Amino acid sequence: DAEIIERQVGAFKSAFPNIDLDVKYACKSNTNLSILKKMLELGTGLDTVSINEIKMGLMVGFKPEQIVFTPNCVDFSEIVEGVELGVRINIENLPNLEKFAEKYGNSVPCFVRLNPQVHSQANSDKVNWWHKQSKFGISLDQLPEVQRLVEEKGLKVNGIHIHSSSVIMTPEVFLEGAKTVFDIAKQFPDLEFLDFGGGIKVEVGDGAPVIDLQDLGKHFEPAFQAFCKEYGKPIQLWFEPGRFLIAEAGMLLVTANVVKRNGDTMFVGTDSGFNQLIRPMLYDAYHEILNLSNPEGQLQKYTVVGNICEIDNFAIDRMIPEVKEGDVLALMTAGSYGFSMASNYNSRVRPMEVMVENGKARIIRNRDSFEDLIRTQDGLWNG
Ligand code: LLP
Repeated sequence: DAEIIERQVGAFKSAFPNIDLDVKYACKSNTNLSILKKMLELGTGLDTVSINEIKMGLMVGFKPEQIVFTPNCVDFSEIVEGVELGVRINIENLPNLEKFAEKYGNSVPCFVRLNPQVHSQANSDKVNWWHKQSKFGISLDQLPEVQRLVEEKGLKVNGIHIHSSSVIMTPEVFLEGAKTVFDIAKQFPDLEFLDFGGGIKVEVGDGAPVIDLQDLGKHFEPAFQAFCKEYGKPIQLWFEPGRFLIAEAGMLLVTANVVKRNGDTMFVGTDSGFNQLIRPMLYDAYHEILNLSNPEGQLQKYTVVGNICEIDNFAIDRMIPEVKEGDVLALMTAGSYGFSMASNYNSRVRPMEVMVENGKARIIRNRDSFEDLIRTQDGLWNG
């Protein structure tokens, strides 16, 4: 739903009216080219994690300098490729930073991604990235090593990056983290950007709290302005939201193939599964389920499952208006990390993607075909 994307981009920008802000859409959440184009039209930049994401961004018209490349654990050659494509480079480990400083000296600037190890409020280790054991970023006790590269090799650090993620639950905790970042930033004289990453949650219908961005902006802006004043030159603030911009804009439509009882459980078996939306199985993520065919029906308790040949739950014991065979159900907030994490497991096809804009629906990706499943294979192997 293009309107929802517009609303969310607008909401993000309006939360920080008094500072120089650039919103980099974290396109790992949904790389459909039409979505990237929409983001470009709405004036976002792009946060990428692979060369292919960069190429897609360039293809739809982003300028290289609007794109930041934040890969994780890549071979150095990928970073070189990023430099050759002209995008902004963000490096998250010392070995690659060392190679970067050696190769480019002060001729190409880079961001460093830090792991500030501040208190966070995550409730699951899978999303708690600010702790010492997390694989992300350069830890603070290694900062002297970064400084050594600045002094000895002339490394030009033009940005500091932290992926806020779970610390972005309340303005207070975020500010606490931001202050750590400000203190570190003062140690680097060539900064142009501070990048606070992504991780801003949206309401998904399970009652879990989300941060009020306007409130965050009110708390954050004065602190950021004070930092810029002390630093002595203006700094551009970056965020890299993925889900905030796109989650609510997408739903996965599935059809109830089978309604059946096993023991005490009523199952709704759909024509989809974790090959198309893996988040419930992978993270116990909550996706609200609507019965579009019977929205006013009497609420009943169902376990909604997919058709993959192993445990494949979308929702367990969920109250949904009565479901009959053939009903169309909508799994909400599937715009982010839905299609982009889909697979062809069970040799099933990934679904089509449809964009609705100005009252018109348009297919922006075709459903996979059987030919797509076999296209990259080398025929039948005959020994
Ligand atoms: N920036 C960096 C460096 C990131 O690693 C991520 C997400 C983002 C930005 C965007 O985060 P967002 O605003 O979308 O939360 N597949 C998972 C989430 C993994 C996120 C990975 N990194 C999910 O389905 O929830």
